[in-house]
Amino acid sequence: MALLKIARMGHPVLRTVAEPIADPLAPEIQRLGVDMVETMHDAHGAGLAGPQVYESRRIIVFHAPVERGGPQTEATAPLTIVINPEITFIEPPEDGPADWEGCLSIPDLRGQVPRSPHIGYKGLGLKGETIEREAKGFHARVVQHEVDHLDGVLYIDRMKGFNSLTFESEIHHLLAKREGS
Ligand code: NI
Repeated sequence: MALLKIARMGHPVLRTVAEPIADPLAPEIQRLGVDMVETMHDAHGAGLAGPQVYESRRIIVFHAPVERGGPQTEATAPLTIVINPEITFIEPPEDGPADWEGCLSIPDLRGQVPRSPHIGYKGLGLKGETIEREAKGFHARVVQHEVDHLDGVLYIDRMKGFNSLTFESEIHHLLAKREGS
């Protein structure tokens, strides 16, 4: 296992459409999946996509723990690796609920991003098995964020405006305002 370097906004790999993976069982893909999980945990991220570790391939890793997703079953997900993921929108992403997102490739910032609250997704696991799920809430959000990375899209591209773009160290101002209203 190895920790991988994380690409930061401005590197072209983050703006490139990633290539499908022909063989999930190939040794380099097995190694990549394991290393991405280790790298995500080390960076305290909820998800990570291939291009973020300079691998322009269609693979994502994520988890949606109950602390983030809440009690609703479809809003949570165990540690998951999906190869060649595809999303089906059960509810449209436009005008979906906005919530805070951050990105390991855009350090120290958070922004409010509208996302579909209910999606389906499918792809292959690291053993070549089919993964097919419905996702809601935070689970749906993290999958949409990671699949966007495979298409060269960053969360800031999905923001309706930049008023909410906030340094993490200042976010308590906005949270206090929201809780107080
Ligand atoms: Ni990201």
